[in-house]
Amino acid sequence: MIYLLDTADVESIKRCNEFYPIEGVTTNPSIIAKEKKDFWELVEEIRNIIGNDKMFHIQTRAEKAEDIIKEAMLLIGRLGGEIYIKIPICEEGLKATMQLNQMGIKVTMTAIFTPAQALLAARAGASFVAPYVNRLDNILGDGVDVVAQIVEEFKKHDIQTKVLAASFKNAEQVHKCALAGCHSATITEGTLKNLVSYPMTDSAIKGFDKDWKKVYGDKIILDL
Ligand code: G3P
Repeated sequence: MIYLLDTADVESIKRCNEFYPIEGVTTNPSIIAKEKKDFWELVEEIRNIIGNDKMFHIQTRAEKAEDIIKEAMLLIGRLGGEIYIKIPICEEGLKATMQLNQMGIKVTMTAIFTPAQALLAARAGASFVAPYVNRLDNILGDGVDVVAQIVEEFKKHDIQTKVLAASFKNAEQVHKCALAGCHSATITEGTLKNLVSYPMTDSAIKGFDKDWKKVYGDKIILDL
């Protein structure tokens, strides 16, 4: 499973791009609006930080398929690089996805809550589908199980569309999606940190430090 960063916070993107093996950034209108910045300046800054080779999944705002396609063309023209046009699943979104697919433009269908929606999105030509794990858990659904069903369904029907699980609140949900064979997950810096840290690891690192210092003091290998 690969990891993407689900934020438009440029400082967080800079840190995570430096310290974690992230393959790109995902945003949606809520995430963008949270930053309260000029839209184009913000998304261009994100593109500059991650470079052209990493994925940038960026969502359209228009409601009509014709306008979604125009927004997609504008985003591609201004941002370039490895770009995925995020479109929420609905009739107009499916229509736009089919046309964008014909034009060779990659789409991530988002706001997916059921395997049936995911299958339709895939048939429309989406490269990724983004099921919302925690939002399902919040209403007594089982987000990880929905991800697992989509993965299984795509395998059964030999569908190449990838699952980009989204909306996480903890590391356990992310890890369970990985075990279910999910292709990718988009998460926040906080969840990335939770995936890395483990008390036994901290204790092991402290032990290495203490034992080394007894013999070599503060020197590191470069000083020897
Ligand atoms: O990428 C979709 C995701 O941002 C939704 O997350 O936390 O708003 O449920 P959340």
